[in-house]
Amino acid sequence: MSLLLKNGTLVLPFGPQQADLRLHKGVICEVGPGLPVREGDRVLDCAGKLVLPGCIDTHTHFEMNKGKPNETADDWVSGTRSAIFGGTTTVLDFAEPEKGASLQSALDTWHARADGRSSCNYSFHMTIKDWNEAIRAELPEMTRQGITSYKIYLAYAMRVSDTVAYEAMQAIAQEGGVLGCHCENGELVELGIAGQRAAGHLSPAAHPLARPAAVEAEAVGRYLAIAELAGAAVNIVHLSTARALELVRAARGRGQKLYVETCPQYLLLDDSVYGLPGFESAKYVFSPPARSKADVAALWEAVADGTVDTVGTDHCSFTTAVKALGQEDFSRIPNGMPGVEDRLRLLYTYGVAAGKIDLSRMVELLAGNPAKLFGMYPKKGVLAVGSDGDVVVYDPRPEGVISAQGNHSACDYDPYEGVKVRGRVDTVLLNGKVVLEDGRLTEGQGRFVSRGPSQFWR
Ligand code: URP
Ligand code: ZN
Ligand code: ZN
Repeated sequence: MSLLLKNGTLVLPFGPQQADLRLHKGVICEVGPGLPVREGDRVLDCAGKLVLPGCIDTHTHFEMNKGKPNETADDWVSGTRSAIFGGTTTVLDFAEPEKGASLQSALDTWHARADGRSSCNYSFHMTIKDWNEAIRAELPEMTRQGITSYKIYLAYAMRVSDTVAYEAMQAIAQEGGVLGCHCENGELVELGIAGQRAAGHLSPAAHPLARPAAVEAEAVGRYLAIAELAGAAVNIVHLSTARALELVRAARGRGQKLYVETCPQYLLLDDSVYGLPGFESAKYVFSPPARSKADVAALWEAVADGTVDTVGTDHCSFTTAVKALGQEDFSRIPNGMPGVEDRLRLLYTYGVAAGKIDLSRMVELLAGNPAKLFGMYPKKGVLAVGSDGDVVVYDPRPEGVISAQGNHSACDYDPYEGVKVRGRVDTVLLNGKVVLEDGRLTEGQGRFVSRGPSQFWR
């Protein structure tokens, strides 16, 4: 028996096409117009709906700071439930070793948290906090276990030196993997925070003032210079400013291979969120912070013209109660907010329906490019014969409003509360099976995705 999606608009690599899709034994086995219904087939009528490859969220933090006062609300159960309702069939979450611990210990911990509990498919980026011969020696074993992407921070206490960035990106490149970076200059952020505190600015309104655009630009410029010297292709995560985009374009102009992720918060929100009354702005304390309207416009341009490669959410669901840890001092507010369920609807509404990007570009940003950059293509990221049966049916017609109440995250707020959206996720297929239909989810069907080398296209 196969599953037949009939009469939908399939978003294929060369563009949207009215066609049908057949799945059998977990994979896509036929794509084309007028596929015949065979005895025993289950038919899903997709007339008027879009059929997309399952979206891949390149950036989540589930069960972050587990067991600590600043733990995130979403564990692997609620976070991945929310992902599926948002049309995301694979998440790439950040595994984080304890300071001084091995990469393997973090991988084991993340597997223990996710295996058998995840409603979507999943893999992990590995965070590098320490760098020494023992950690370097673990890389081939990480590759063997399907982990081919990493992240370093140039900000926060876990920031690494330029030497570590250089050595790590070279070693990871030798493995065929890619090193992503949180690009903010940590020392300058600390100076910025100290300056705000000295001026008596302790509310969340001080958060963006302590981390201005120059702080990101410095770190992006440095990271790209290091990558140029190391001869390694790299990824910049959650890029937020026009200034950083200028640096990216200049580096590419010199022939450098690099990839850029941005997030919906840098496309939908601006720094006016830091002027909200009371402690409301704390919800928007994430880093880099929401930027100026000019930055937002520049990022949309970069999303449209191909400068940006992927859009991940940076889902990091600190509740308002946890945010209150910084009630007296903005710098103690845990950085991050939810969003995993909102990405597709936001990109469809404010990208495609608004005429900024077309459907193919949206799918490239949310599925195709993530699959290539993170070693999953063409099993994932594309509707093609032989690809995994991860498929989203999106109905573009209904109009709705985002709300925490209507979403499935365990967080007590949604940063896009009240934002109008066009369309909704109608049905989701995971590994060839329907897991979401008529608003009902079959939970816990996610599988670990063992990834291969990055498939660089630039
Ligand atoms: O504020 C953020 N982005 N929190 C999550 C951790 C990170 O830096 O990605
Ligand atoms: Zn980061
Ligand atoms: Zn993050």
